Amino acid sequence: MSADSGEPARPGSEAEAFALDAGDPGHRELFDVPPVDDGYYPDVAYFAGNSLGLRPRATRGELLADLDSWAALGVEGHLEAERPWLPYHELLTAPAARLVGGLPSETVVMNSLTVNLHLLMVSFYRPTAERFKIVIEDSAFPSDSYAVRSQARFHGLDPDDAIVRLRPRDGEDTLRTEDVVGKLGPDTALVLLGGVNYLTGELMDIPAITAAGHAAGAVVGWDLAHAAGNVPLRLHDWDVDFAAWCSYKYLNSGPGALAGAYVHERHHGGDLPRFEGWWSTEPATRFEMAPESRPPRSADAWQVSNPPIFAMSPVRTSYELFDKVGMDVLRARSLRLTAYLERLLADVTVGRPLQVITPADPARRGAQLSIRVGGGLRAGELCKTLRFEYGVIADAREPDVVRLAPVPLYSLYHDCWRAAQALAAAVPETA
Ligand SMILES: Cc1ncc(COP(=O)(O)O)c(C=O)c1O
Repeated sequence: MSADSGEPARPGSEAEAFALDAGDPGHRELFDVPPVDDGYYPDVAYFAGNSLGLRPRATRGELLADLDSWAALGVEGHLEAERPWLPYHELLTAPAARLVGGLPSETVVMNSLTVNLHLLMVSFYRPTAERFKIVIEDSAFPSDSYAVRSQARFHGLDPDDAIVRLRPRDGEDTLRTEDVVGKLGPDTALVLLGGVNYLTGELMDIPAITAAGHAAGAVVGWDLAHAAGNVPLRLHDWDVDFAAWCSYKYLNSGPGALAGAYVHERHHGGDLPRFEGWWSTEPATRFEMAPESRPPRSADAWQVSNPPIFAMSPVRTSYELFDKVGMDVLRARSLRLTAYLERLLADVTVGRPLQVITPADPARRGAQLSIRVGGGLRAGELCKTLRFEYGVIADAREPDVVRLAPVPLYSLYHDCWRAAQALAAAVPETA
């Protein structure tokens, strides 16, 4: 029975997907969804928002307006532009703070993610002979692995000695909080984990691990690339020392977009080492051109260079959107949408060499469901089939993980239905 007949649509049917979209529509109309030419549907079913989010429709006009103030004003745009460039980054501070649950003074938008992790580790990784280990996940994103290894080398340490890589128990795919906590001890200098793991989609228990790290005497920082804009965060209340996140995934600010950084207020104004430039000094005296900086008591002190305005513009537009919709509303839709995809996948995976490895507990995951493929299939090949035969854009992490992220701002229940149909058609049942 279709939704039109007035009777409930059959579970798993396309009619059910349409009915769910009618009742729980999200904000797709605010985004440009790439078209597809497959004769069935106008747009791709986009599941790669955990890699690169889609462009908000407002971004183009807002960016063009900022560009035009350069044409109209030249250097005078620093003070005279509709959104003056000198204090431009401050427009992003409060919305970014709201998104990650920080105080505005604890939050700054700047640089890119790995650069921010390095700048923060300059302050927060200060190894001693006794306490020098950095704890990361074995499945940390490679950039984080390279960053911590290079930090260890920078301090004259052997990275193989300094870096502790956390692995799930045999036969398990994700980390247990108690196992993470069990690895923290008197030699732990820094814990640096992904808030949501990029590969498995596991949402870590950020408050519990932060508290355990502190109890062990360590500093605790978080890479929130897959968490910001995906799950509600309360960094200040959770007592997180520092964090950084990118803005091109769930924050929809475009490829390589400017990142965010968070530093808890208890670290402001102290004697932590920082790398400085002219944007590390307080704005009121910046143009006195003094030879020594006067850093503000805020995360702004971790800034180095003057910010790229045209790169900030899409981040500003995106944060405005998050403010308008609200992270709690998004999380609620995300839970419904991901649960629906999970239900469809439960049918598809039966009898096929496919296994969802993301935690089944909604409290331990965000929007992403990761599927391990077996039976000799390669994730990359499968994603190509999904894309070119079914118009479904998923993401492959070779050799064997396909990631699907139904993004609550713009993904449809019908997208989920298409993904499940495509997987069922593309992956043969095992005899
Ligand atoms: C978890 C995580 N950390 C770090 C990075 C690297 O980010 P960037 O190239 O912006 O420094 C990524 C990129 O996707 C990521 O997913």
